[in-house]
Amino acid sequence: MSTDTRQPVVHLRSRAVSVVIDLHDGRLPSIAHWGADLGPLDDAELADVVRGAERFVTENAPDRPTRLAVLPEQSEAWLGRPGITGSRDGRDWSPLFTMEPAQVTPRTVTVDGEDAEAGLAIRIEFELSEAGLLRVRATLRNVADGVYRLDDLHLALPIPARAREVLDLAGRWGKERTPQRSPLRVGAWVREDRRGRTGPDAPLVLNVGVPGFGFATGEVWGVHVGWSGNQRHLAERLSTGDQVIGGGELLLPDEIRLARGDAYTSPWVYGAHGDGLDAQAALFHEHLRAQPGHPARDRPLTLNVWEAVYFDHDAEALMQLAEVASSLGIERFVLDDGWFRGRRHDRAGLGDWFVDEEVWPDGLQPLADRVRSLGMEFGLWFEPEMVNLDSDLAREHPDWIMQTGGRLPIPARNQQVLDLGRPEAFAAVLERMTAILTEVDIAYIKWDQNRDLVDAGSAPDGRAGVHRQTAAVYRLMDELTRRFPELEIESCSSGGSRVDLGVLERTHRVWASDCSDPLERQQINRWTAQLVPLERLGAHIASGRSHTTGRSHELSFRAATALFGHLGVEWDLRQASPAELEELRGWFGLYRRTRDLLHTGRLVREDVFDDALQITGVVAEDRSRALFSLTFLSRSDVARIGRFTLRGLDPERRYRVRPLRIGEPSGGRAVPAWFGEEDEVDGPLAGWTGVVASGAVLSHSGLQTPSSAPERAWIVEVSAVGEDGDAGSIVGCRPRDLPRSSA
Ligand code: DGJ
Repeated sequence: MSTDTRQPVVHLRSRAVSVVIDLHDGRLPSIAHWGADLGPLDDAELADVVRGAERFVTENAPDRPTRLAVLPEQSEAWLGRPGITGSRDGRDWSPLFTMEPAQVTPRTVTVDGEDAEAGLAIRIEFELSEAGLLRVRATLRNVADGVYRLDDLHLALPIPARAREVLDLAGRWGKERTPQRSPLRVGAWVREDRRGRTGPDAPLVLNVGVPGFGFATGEVWGVHVGWSGNQRHLAERLSTGDQVIGGGELLLPDEIRLARGDAYTSPWVYGAHGDGLDAQAALFHEHLRAQPGHPARDRPLTLNVWEAVYFDHDAEALMQLAEVASSLGIERFVLDDGWFRGRRHDRAGLGDWFVDEEVWPDGLQPLADRVRSLGMEFGLWFEPEMVNLDSDLAREHPDWIMQTGGRLPIPARNQQVLDLGRPEAFAAVLERMTAILTEVDIAYIKWDQNRDLVDAGSAPDGRAGVHRQTAAVYRLMDELTRRFPELEIESCSSGGSRVDLGVLERTHRVWASDCSDPLERQQINRWTAQLVPLERLGAHIASGRSHTTGRSHELSFRAATALFGHLGVEWDLRQASPAELEELRGWFGLYRRTRDLLHTGRLVREDVFDDALQITGVVAEDRSRALFSLTFLSRSDVARIGRFTLRGLDPERRYRVRPLRIGEPSGGRAVPAWFGEEDEVDGPLAGWTGVVASGAVLSHSGLQTPSSAPERAWIVEVSAVGEDGDAGSIVGCRPRDLPRSSA
């Protein structure tokens, strides 16, 4: 790594990723290489990397080689989306910046420049994390007279020609983050989010990789815009042969007007390169885990009462629920929507953040006290950005409702958006939340946001206000965190519509979806985890019949699914049978015993070899143990699915692989020989003796997949054994009189 600030080429290196930045001739920085680590390179070798990447003159094209900057310049004949779109009353729309020498540290490069003619100054910042996550942002400053109207600021990262397949996510309410693949063709694959929130259909990470890339292998380059408001992600292939991925905030008309001295800073645009999607996810997970706000404590087993009682708040019933929860070892009790004035249904009350005196005549503290005395933390739901027209707040301050064109936006879930960009509205909400958080012993907020921002202007002139609103939401979270440093926040938005690195900098977990049907959640969680580590991914065991889909599932499948997340329950446990409560105890025991692994380890998603089967696991950082789930989404068209393999283990160590009975799928008990002997006693640790095999055997030769009825899962524990091993190595495994009858 060169730290000489005069160097025209900088090489940022991490464990697996190299970024070579060309700063020649005082021009905007251009990335000559972003991808696998190139090893240590001296200045001459770095110059060669740049030379090897240099674009040459082709037919009927500009007469000199052009450069592609991270903020692409029209002045360099770039024909794709430009880095800056804006003007000063029609002028200064194609700046040409001259940059100063960069400030370089081992992990960062900051470079400032100016176009005196256009009256604009620019700062570009790069950061490469130790693991290899790249992030870039730009700050544009108006240094001349006259307002500069910025319409778009877009950062672009070059990707090589071998990356030709796009994978990103779509989705909708209750079915967030569905994957979609397509070839990258000449043109642009643009994902625009105009919801004013991240959205259930956000690309999450827009990836382009070598065709056929999967979880285990295949080079892939992904981009993520860390912003919770309107945003754009895109992949662009030009007829010149250039390819970029990039993004930025999507600005509405006139949202950013820079007077002399004013500046706009873009969100961080993250670039994640990996060999396979698991390696890429590990970059995001490590980044989040390294942040100062990342939860340091064990993730508490949570009960959220929403699907148990909805708006039907009754102090006595909720206390009973708290008692059942505590008897099962639940550690956090969250009171959801419905506790504040007038909120007997979703048509009224939002904005009036006073405890409802009719439902809670003694306030919430008695419930919070009871919850505390039962050994649990108390959490409370808020939706600070919203207002119902049927509320005192809306009646007193109709001009605080976001609107444009002299009319109100179409209501959604009967609600409107409170204009937090207005200092008075911001102050009022901050004051109310502070009062409740001071009056009641609250450890946790579920921060909800349940509608898209359409026609989101600020009264009275109706100017577009999504940018201002998003910044205000962040400010509100930051200020509450400053006032209540121990407070944890969950980011919820109609389920999982606000999942991004902007909000994750300020919150402790996301609610991934309102759909807790485990069959749906297997997919939702699998893809949410591309960005979010399991300890920050809220996953609940709901009642047997899903409130969202109407499908019914056994408890073992519901629990085995939610286990791979921050586990909770969202079910009226007073209705659960004694057998269900007993089984829940077993699952909670398993969660307590494995959460240190699940919440610090490395996520492994095996590539699908049979559509019926999905394998997800977590391997400890030191590779001493792992937990896997063999999930049967449907019935295979073959009787024996074949051998599964387990990735991520140490090839030279030997491991015991042990199926647990707690996750035993019913509806068939034909188990393979490697299961070994079945424990006779019951209990959370009961299962089979399993088999001992090396990491190499497990990852290359594998084990027969047990059979199962559909929509069930086997949980398999993997733990390293001592040098002398343990009985029953896979090699010496005696064929037994199996499979047993499935009587
Ligand atoms: C939407 C959330 O996603 C739900 O979990 C619940 O909190 C409701 N809002 C409450 O109105």
